[in-house]
Amino acid sequence: KILILDFGSQVTQLIGRRVREAHVYCEIHPSDVSDDFIRDFAPRGIILSGSHASTYEDHQLRAPQAVWDAGVPVLGICYGMQTMATQLGGEVSWSDHREFGYAEVRAHGHTRLLDGVQDFVTDEGHGMLKVWMSHGDKVTTLPPGFKLMASTPSCPIAGMANEDKGYYAVQFHPEVTHTQQGAAMLNRFVREIAGCRGDWIMGDYIEEAVARIREQVGDEEVILGLSGGVDSSVAAALIHRAIGDQLTCVFVDHGLLRLNEGQMVMDMFAGRLHAKVVHVQAAEQFLGHLQGVTDPEAKRKIIGREFVEVFQAEAAKLKGDGNKGAKWLAQGTIYPDVVESGGTKSKKATIKSHHNVGGLPETLGLKLLEPLRELFKDEVRELGVALGLPADMVYRHPFPGPGLGVRVLGEVKPEYVSLLQRADHIFIEELRKTIDPTTGKSWYDLTSQAFTVFLPVKSVGVMGDGRTYEYVVSLRAVETSDFMTADSAELPYSLLKKVSSRIINEVRGINRVAYDVSSKPPATIEWE
Ligand code: XMP
Repeated sequence: KILILDFGSQVTQLIGRRVREAHVYCEIHPSDVSDDFIRDFAPRGIILSGSHASTYEDHQLRAPQAVWDAGVPVLGICYGMQTMATQLGGEVSWSDHREFGYAEVRAHGHTRLLDGVQDFVTDEGHGMLKVWMSHGDKVTTLPPGFKLMASTPSCPIAGMANEDKGYYAVQFHPEVTHTQQGAAMLNRFVREIAGCRGDWIMGDYIEEAVARIREQVGDEEVILGLSGGVDSSVAAALIHRAIGDQLTCVFVDHGLLRLNEGQMVMDMFAGRLHAKVVHVQAAEQFLGHLQGVTDPEAKRKIIGREFVEVFQAEAAKLKGDGNKGAKWLAQGTIYPDVVESGGTKSKKATIKSHHNVGGLPETLGLKLLEPLRELFKDEVRELGVALGLPADMVYRHPFPGPGLGVRVLGEVKPEYVSLLQRADHIFIEELRKTIDPTTGKSWYDLTSQAFTVFLPVKSVGVMGDGRTYEYVVSLRAVETSDFMTADSAELPYSLLKKVSSRIINEVRGINRVAYDVSSKPPATIEWE
């Protein structure tokens, strides 16, 4: 088994996932576990994660001495490489400025980690890798016994190895999918270098999960907030499988849904799945509380708080056998939500508070049931398919819990929501209709998430003989497999132009359409 020590990177969980994909068992623990813990764990190999370390203080984080005494292979990633260098006698230059982005790395010498692993070969015959790298802090002097394994012009020591000891380190991130050979490198480290057999399989997740839910819940009642998004839908199907009518789904129409969304969700869950669904109409309540609020975090908190209130009111109404109310609140929280809300044990920077994690007051009075908490989006989809949910539901683009509340920038006004709903509907309709001739797939299926953002600014236009002074929307479409990093989708211009002209012609009040080409990071997928 492999021990992953977490220094607080946003993407540590991805290392675990890649190791699982190599069919090797692993556990992630904070970087400050005791030496005894490491000895008792008896790993065959250790991986040191990256870190969000951005202050000088964080640069003091070190791997426990037992890592170096364990006599097993160690792989350092990004910050993990720097701490390896510092602890083993090399030198690092720390910098307060870091960038995370695409780089081409040259592999040097023949190392067991990188030999023969490459994306292309230069004219001079150098093997090259396409990677995602953190620039900023870097190793400037190799520790004794180490040789150079990889370099870029701006980072001369981008990888180092001490093959006698089985120590390897890379400045880039092999765990993110943008590093094309990253999974191959991690596979090689855990199987060939650390010698793990690779016969571990993820078991039957549904059976395990169903058994766990039944054991947790017993005969108590559960309510679940159904948003119509992929996560809450899969959670609902999984919990419904486990406990049937002990589950009541509460579908809150907060007035921040996509066009016709309410009807669609009801048709699917009440109609097709025969689950108990309560449809709560709460648009006025939500929009009322959002009035005059412009700060994104404040908006999320308000929406989260209102959700909790609605749930509590519904929970109070739901009486099971013997007059006991619902005791559990189930949610489709998935792993990236936990990380990005700063909810794991180690230090993580809080990026956004996702309402289904951060907004819950401790006085909720309901126990939390979150069966998807350890999974990534695509794992959740696999699970949905395995549960027999229709593909069009499972492969729907994800939709955030706060809904259009975070897609109307600044203050959420009913007028803005309505303009956005109609513009977004046109965008999605065209994405579904337009087939890419090379792949034969629709652009909806070729993108991981696509939506429209309403910008509360007016710009000047001309229509017919008249000057217009109306609002702007931005289209956003991204490709990603894990939603932790993402690239903007290269939609055909013809499609973008068609969407733009339809929106401007059909949605009175919008006279300009932009396309967002930023990647995550440094941008996020949503605009708020
Ligand atoms: P960001 O904008 O953080 O989004 O790059 C990553 C993914 O998470 C979704 N998202 C949310 N989902 N509640 C949710 O359930 C939220 O508050 C929330 N905020 C963002 C986003 O749509 C994307 O798929």
